[in-house]
Amino acid sequence: MSDKINVLIPEETVDAKIKELGEKISEDYKGKEVHLICILKGGVFFACELAKRITVPVSLDFMQVSSYGNATTSSGIVRIKKDLDDSMEGKEVLIVEDIIDSGRTLHYLIPVLKQRNPASIRLCALLSKPDRREAEVNIDYLGFEIPDEFVVGYGLDYAQKYRNLPFIGVVEPEEDNGEAQSEGKGETIE
Ligand code: IMP
Ligand code: MG
Repeated sequence: MSDKINVLIPEETVDAKIKELGEKISEDYKGKEVHLICILKGGVFFACELAKRITVPVSLDFMQVSSYGNATTSSGIVRIKKDLDDSMEGKEVLIVEDIIDSGRTLHYLIPVLKQRNPASIRLCALLSKPDRREAEVNIDYLGFEIPDEFVVGYGLDYAQKYRNLPFIGVVEPEEDNGEAQSEGKGETIE
């Protein structure tokens, strides 16, 4: 059982965009330090590549959240599975996320994190699917707007697979995978 994956954004294009985002962030945070909060697991590949392109001092922390939903959609009920290790008080926080889809996860999370008194809080996302938005989220730094298609690669998974692809691809499940997909109902997505 294998899925066909079509390239949506090639590796070189993703890498060039991350370099561009890193330069912009370095410029905007000149004279400051930036505290990156990577949202696990999907944000991890992007956060590492981005961190390498930022020239101001960088610290890193990780948070894992899950939304209760089926295999491909979020319900908006967000649970913190792994909280941050360090305090964010007084820090210039930049949240790094793989994709903003319905927007529900970050719409919930940003106000929660604001209560922890960072000096500032901004959001950087590699991808956004504006057509899917249900909850408002302001994305300060965005890689690419993409159409309403389920994508994998660069940290994004389909049933925990394909995170390691170095490009953004669209999964075309085989016909007999339809059953496997509906069995995903009620699982948590990250
Ligand atoms: P939200 O709908 O904006 O709350 O996004 C919830 C989470 O769903 C994202 O952080 C991703 O981990 C996941 N997600 C949304 N769209 C995709 C996709 O196309 N591929 C893989 N994961 C996705
Ligand atoms: Mg995610």
